[in-house]
Amino acid sequence: MAYRKVLHDGDETLRKTSKPVVDFDQNLWTLLDDMAETMKKSDGAGLAAVQVGVLKRAFVMQAGKDKVLRECINPKILKEEGENKIKVEGCLSVPGKCGIVERPEKVWVEYQDRNGKLISNKKLTGFEAKCFCHEFDHLNGILYIDKATEMFDDRDEYNRKRKK
Ligand code: NI
Repeated sequence: MAYRKVLHDGDETLRKTSKPVVDFDQNLWTLLDDMAETMKKSDGAGLAAVQVGVLKRAFVMQAGKDKVLRECINPKILKEEGENKIKVEGCLSVPGKCGIVERPEKVWVEYQDRNGKLISNKKLTGFEAKCFCHEFDHLNGILYIDKATEMFDDRDEYNRKRKK
C-alpha cells in the first residue's frame, strides 16, 4: 500500500467525469488499497479515485459507527429519503474548510465490490448516507462547495458561528 497525493480544488481533473470500471484486476486492487491508506492517513471519511487523479468510478469510505471500510465501484443511488441531520461536511480536496450541505438521511444504493460482485439495494443512513452522496458527486466532477449553502474557513469558525 502506498500513500497517493490528493488533488486540490483548482485542479481540472477534479471536474472531469469518471469512467466505469471494467476490469476488476490487480490494478484496481492496488488503487483501492492505496486510496484506503491515503484516506486513513489524511483522517478522511471517504476518498474517490478522481481525488488521486484516476478517472475511475470508484471510491472508498469509512463513515459508519462500526467503521466498516466500504469499497464502492460503479455506484448508483437508487432512492433517497429524508433530510440528513448532519449538515457540515469537508473534503480532502478542499483542505481545512467546511460547509453546510443538505443531503438525504437515507439512501438505497448499489455498487460492485473489488471482485465485481454486485451489492444491490443496500440501505445507508446518517453519516454513511451523507458520505456516499458526497463521494458519488466526485465521480461526476462535483465538489461539495458547489452545493454548500454556507462555507467556513475552518472548524473553529464553524463552531463559533454555529454556537450563536
Ligand atoms: Ni470529497
